[in-house]
Amino acid sequence: MSRELELVLQNDLIVDWKEHYKEVFGKHTLLLKNRLPELPVFEPDNLARLIEATPSEHYDFVRPGAIGSKKSQWQQGSLAGARGEDVLQAVEEGRFWLSLRALQDWDEGFAQVTAKIFEELEGKVPGFTSFKHKTGMLISSPGAQVYYHADVPGQSLWQVKGHKDVYIYENTEPFLSDAQLEGIFLGTTEEEIRFEPWYDEFATKVTLSPGEMAHWPLNNPHRVENHDEVNISVTTEHFTPEVRNFYAIIYANGLLRAAGISGNRHSYGARKYAKMALAAAHKMLYKRIMGSDTTAKSIRSFKLDIAAPDFMADL
Ligand SMILES: [Fe+2]
Repeated sequence: MSRELELVLQNDLIVDWKEHYKEVFGKHTLLLKNRLPELPVFEPDNLARLIEATPSEHYDFVRPGAIGSKKSQWQQGSLAGARGEDVLQAVEEGRFWLSLRALQDWDEGFAQVTAKIFEELEGKVPGFTSFKHKTGMLISSPGAQVYYHADVPGQSLWQVKGHKDVYIYENTEPFLSDAQLEGIFLGTTEEEIRFEPWYDEFATKVTLSPGEMAHWPLNNPHRVENHDEVNISVTTEHFTPEVRNFYAIIYANGLLRAAGISGNRHSYGARKYAKMALAAAHKMLYKRIMGSDTTAKSIRSFKLDIAAPDFMADL
């Protein structure tokens, strides 16, 4: 570990923690102050080197379609051989987002940071135990958006640079139906789900500034709008025994629904089939949670070229 990182990690990364937060954590949207922006990795030179060191299977460099377009119109790009500085310039001046995944697996510094974050949370929230910790980084252009979606694991969003508005919605109907939740977990539905502009009347809106982190209840759908500046954020993901058991039920219900027997997330569906489905679900879940998920999301169709129009050249 570098001396600089060691110094930052001598003190808690989560600061200004209030005792009563432990009662809210995971149940309601919670905004926490943190010291992530102090990490040496965010100095421009270090960030450029980190981008260059990212294994090919651990990044997405995406050119989103025009505002309002479908995810299928997104293009994936290659950063092979690109200078980190050029990648950062393209994000700053163009319209891209770069997602670095599973940092804890291939970057020693982030392995330490990830361990420290969860050690602190587990110390602060009695009864909170977690596993399968994952850390990612999102570097995105001014005005970039992440569309309405819901995720499988427990999640937090840590803001390092720039500002963004995060809209967080309840994880129940009409914002998220049982069938949609099952589909997301079974991988049969795109993570993007139905969104209506009036949902915003019922959303919790949080504006994240550098040094702030938001944590929301499991599966709460959310969407994100960058302000007009480059954004750098870190995401952490985790599973808990409760999350894993809950998903076993969702997964089993999904299997039952596919077989024409409907259940809901609070029951095991038809008793006769429940045991079987639950056993199958546990087996699948074990593979899914513990297995690696490093496959590229889609084929890369362009490469970054700082001299090309829109910074994109044919591969
Ligand atoms: Fe998300």
